[in-house]
Amino acid sequence: MTFDDILVPVDGSDASLTAARHARALAEAFGGRVTLVHVVPNAAYLVGDAIIVPPLLLNELDENGKVVMEKARAVFQGFTGELAEETLHGDPGAAVSALAKERGCTLVIMGRRGLGGLAGLLLGSVSNYVLHNTACPTLIVKETGFAGV
Ligand SMILES: Nc1ncnc2c1ncn2[C@@H]1O[C@H](COP(=O)(O)OP(=O)(O)OP(=O)(O)O)[C@@H](O)[C@H]1O
Ligand SMILES: [Mg+2]
Repeated sequence: MTFDDILVPVDGSDASLTAARHARALAEAFGGRVTLVHVVPNAAYLVGDAIIVPPLLLNELDENGKVVMEKARAVFQGFTGELAEETLHGDPGAAVSALAKERGCTLVIMGRRGLGGLAGLLLGSVSNYVLHNTACPTLIVKETGFAGV
C-alpha cells in the first residue's frame, strides 16, 4: 500500500487548506496524485409536508463552492504532479467516503474541524463520519502546525 492517490476534502476552512498542504508535500515526496473534493451541502427545508429548496440559497452555495475550490487550488500552484477536482452535491461525509471508494484513493487527508463548529467536540461531523466510514486510511490534521516537510 502506498499513499500515492490522495483525496483532500475542502470546505474553505484553514484546517482543510492545511490538509491540502500536507497532501501536496506527500504527493511531491512520493510522486502521487491529489484529488480535491468539495461537497455542496443539500439546502432543503421541510415546511409542513413540502420540501422547499430556495434557488437563491442553492446558487449561493454553488458560488461559495467555487471560491472554496479556488483557495484549495492555490495551494498547488507550481505543483507538477497530477491534480484533479471534484465538486459534488449532497451529504458531505457520505459523498467524500463514496468518492474515496469510487476512485480507489489510498489516503484521505482532511481537517479536524471546519467552518462550522460545535465547541468542545474533538472532531467535526464530516471528519468524524469520514474517519469511521472510509475504507482507506484517513489522516486528520489540525488547522495550524504544517511544518512544510
Ligand atoms: N462540505 C464539505 N466538502 C468537503 N469537505 C468538507 C466539507 N465540510 C467539511 N469538510 C472537511 O471536513 C473537515 C472537518 O470539517 P467538519 O465539517 O467535520 O467540522 P466543523 O465544520 O467544525 O463541524 P460541523 O460541520 O459538524 O459543525 C474540514 O477541514 C474539511 O477537510
Ligand atoms: Mg463543517
